[in-house]
Amino acid sequence: MRLGFVGTGTLSSAIVTGLKSLPGETTPVVVSPRNETIAAELAARHPDVRIAADNQAVLDQCDTVMLAVRPQIAREVVKELRFRQDHHVVSLIATISREEIAGLVAPAAHVCKALPMPMIARLQGATIICPPDPIMAAFFGRLSGVIEVEDQAEFDALSVVTANYASYFRYLDTIHTWVRSQGVAGDKSRAYITSIYKALANAPDTAPDEDFMHLSREYATRGGINEQVLRELTEHGTFEAFAEILGRVHQRITGA
Ligand SMILES: NC(=O)c1ccc[n+]([C@@H]2O[C@H](COP(=O)([O-])OP(=O)(O)OC[C@H]3O[C@@H](n4cnc5c(N)ncnc54)[C@H](OP(=O)(O)O)[C@@H]3O)[C@@H](O)[C@H]2O)c1
Repeated sequence: MRLGFVGTGTLSSAIVTGLKSLPGETTPVVVSPRNETIAAELAARHPDVRIAADNQAVLDQCDTVMLAVRPQIAREVVKELRFRQDHHVVSLIATISREEIAGLVAPAAHVCKALPMPMIARLQGATIICPPDPIMAAFFGRLSGVIEVEDQAEFDALSVVTANYASYFRYLDTIHTWVRSQGVAGDKSRAYITSIYKALANAPDTAPDEDFMHLSREYATRGGINEQVLRELTEHGTFEAFAEILGRVHQRITGA
């Protein structure tokens, strides 16, 4: 594989960083010159990464190309490029459908959408791929795991998962702020919360056949403090409101 990136920003940088952290990894990578600083950093750090003169030069020097510009400019940027029939095109552009991208990159016949996350730089967080694509499944599988889906509807529904990071950290911050308000040193509180939530993040792996509600029930000891928090949040309508918000995010993603 000769891998190219059109748009060298946060996500491209994360993928290259993750890829080049793999032992013995020598895939040649060519990146577009924008963003200049990120492209220069990647090329300085990795001998197999080169900066192309422009976006077309990326395409001319690769067989697999990841489209990683922002959605707002993507159509304009991609329309100007000449793709080859044998190009394997991977669109990372979140809000443009595979069908539309396929139209823009003709005559390239091999087109898929992928949704990696920036934590791929640390080889974490699975990548969603649509439609199933053995070459890309192997590529992202080596980095951080892969979930292949058959259609755009599944892809869009799974994409909603990625809207919850900021709220997750706000939830942890609410606990942290409260604990500190009781006079506990910030570093102790942070260390304890981080340790406990890392352990909780591993819990589904210890019971792979159980759903999340099973774990919720397991931790909600009858009459205990977990049951109390769960009950009070439920009584406040927190989870219903949350599910409604997920629906609105989904509407936004699908343009419904
Ligand atoms: N970041 C995420 O968590 C994430 C997650 C899922 C999907 N995505 C998708 O991935 C894509 C890239 O996201 P990102 O976060 O990496 O965005 P980003 O950091 O803004 O990177 C996009 C890069 O494209 C460059 N660029 C601007 N105009 C260009 C042009 N005409 N030709 C080539 N490159 C150009 C920009 O360079 P300048 O800085 O010089 O303007 C910028 O560095 C987006 O479509 C987004 O929907 C991102």
